[in-house]
Amino acid sequence: MKRILPLHIIRKKEAQEPIVMLTAYDAMMAKAVETAGVDMILVGDSLGNVIAGYDNTIPVTMDQMVMHTQYVSRVSKTALIVSDMPFMSYHESRELALKNAGRLIKEGGAQAVKIEVGPSDVEMVKAIVESGIPVVAHLGFTPQSMYQQGGYRVQGRSEEDSEKMIQLANQLVAVGCFAVLLEMVPAKLASKLSSQLSVPVIGIGAGRGCDGQVLVTHDVLGLFDGKVASFVKQYANVYDAIKTGLDAFVSDVKTRNFPAEEHEFD
Ligand code: KIV
Repeated sequence: MKRILPLHIIRKKEAQEPIVMLTAYDAMMAKAVETAGVDMILVGDSLGNVIAGYDNTIPVTMDQMVMHTQYVSRVSKTALIVSDMPFMSYHESRELALKNAGRLIKEGGAQAVKIEVGPSDVEMVKAIVESGIPVVAHLGFTPQSMYQQGGYRVQGRSEEDSEKMIQLANQLVAVGCFAVLLEMVPAKLASKLSSQLSVPVIGIGAGRGCDGQVLVTHDVLGLFDGKVASFVKQYANVYDAIKTGLDAFVSDVKTRNFPAEEHEFD
């Protein structure tokens, strides 16, 4: 099977086929999500939370994004790899934004980038698209602006905010974004955008009316010690399985039950 490209993702919307996206930050998880049949792999800056141990995504660097994108692109054969532009990698100047988007494609091996976009970023996004790099526009709750947005909050609840989001989404489609990702947006607004926009709308905490869904794989699998957000459905509890296995290993070594005779060389 050939690599899925932005054009195929747009065709899926036209055919009303749900689009599936999950995060991966390393080779093992990239292989697992691809084998499960995702259309797109997101190398998200959520790696700051789930891999690097930060409280939020703000400290994530371009070098970290490039490195984790390489881990994914080395093994991925079919899914469209979308890599996140981290905090302050595209604000300083158009030149820096182009350079950093280019690094994720050229050095990282992604086929597209995702950018958390505000109204002042439309021209910068246009320049990246015009340089030949496909862009997913991330709207709604944008974790890199969490201090400005007042923490983890649903966005676009008021008439005014929802109108602003619709206007921005239309501007981003007009400059060539091939998909819009909506995070923590009222389901009604996300449905409206999905039916109005010509490009796919991928939701996370944005309800059932979106053209596709994305979640953080660690949340889906329960691959951490803690609670998931209310919009997440957890399909496994891998953290508990890891802990059970490791507890048994530690106990076996302490009680001299490992290694046994079958683990020894003659
Ligand atoms: O970084 C990420 O994983 C994301 C998702 C939450 C959509 O942006």
